[in-house]
Amino acid sequence: MYDWLNALPKAELHLHLEGSLEPELLFALAERNKIALPWNDVEALRSAYAFNNLQEFLDLYYAGADVLRTEQDFYDLTWAYLLKCKAQNVIHTEPFFDPQTHTDRGIPFEVVLRGIKQALVDGEKQLGISHGLILSFLRHLSEEEAFKTFEQAMPFRDAFIAVGLDSSEMGHPPRKFQRVFDKARSEGLLTVAHAGEEGPPEYIWEALDLLKIKRIDHGVRAIEDERLMQRIIDEQIPLTVCPLSNTKLCVFDDMRQHNILQMLERGVKVTVNSDDPAYFGGYVTENFAALHESLGMTKEQAQRLAQNSLDARLV
Ligand code: ADE
Ligand code: ZN
Repeated sequence: MYDWLNALPKAELHLHLEGSLEPELLFALAERNKIALPWNDVEALRSAYAFNNLQEFLDLYYAGADVLRTEQDFYDLTWAYLLKCKAQNVIHTEPFFDPQTHTDRGIPFEVVLRGIKQALVDGEKQLGISHGLILSFLRHLSEEEAFKTFEQAMPFRDAFIAVGLDSSEMGHPPRKFQRVFDKARSEGLLTVAHAGEEGPPEYIWEALDLLKIKRIDHGVRAIEDERLMQRIIDEQIPLTVCPLSNTKLCVFDDMRQHNILQMLERGVKVTVNSDDPAYFGGYVTENFAALHESLGMTKEQAQRLAQNSLDARLV
């Protein structure tokens, strides 16, 4: 089954490039940039990957991103992810990057963007993988800071297809970013947002009504609100679901409790994605395989999920 799932043509629509930083590359970049790490070796770092919630993960994810310093580092990070895409027959990807994670450490916006974008362009030419890049704002920071980031991004407007919203969800509702999302749409950018991962269904309503999002990232808590479910089904609003992430961050206690197939069978346009594969134990194929192993996902269901990912592309 793994090989069959691996061979399915698919798109990945929810992937944080910083979350694809494998421990081996993290150590190599630390050495290249002469950065001392608090972990003795790759194994010690990997064993720290045990989380009770989103925030515990984010603390380590932002710490890990500190090894990314130069344009070449961002290129190498992105290229390593694209090689994984190639190996798993991901033919199109719409990754996120978090510029504020880097600019707040003094790394210029253009250093981050140039490294990522050059790798994505090379990936199109050399690997045949198409892409659309999404600039994601950190929701634990202020809207004013998001505006500053947006201004830094505007000279490179054509490098992006959309803006997104990620980081700590609870206490940072989508409405906090309504004005900066209005501005992004006025520049012709599309919008997406993480909502309903740990946060309540109200956050999904706000993301739809106030941020005018085209896709919901995660959205698994929509199932608690029947009126919301009906809207998502009627309007065929895609959900970018990340099964291994949801179990590693204790959104579901166990993969057998995951609701993705229930949603699929109700007619929700759900897709399978890896979120932060270096931290959660696998890339897209491993996420599909987990659904087969724990929920008995059939080949026919896998084909519908893969087709949904191709249909839910923004570009
Ligand atoms: N940033 C990286 N991964 C994330 C996730 N799963 N939720 C929110 N922010 C994130
Ligand atoms: Zn995410």
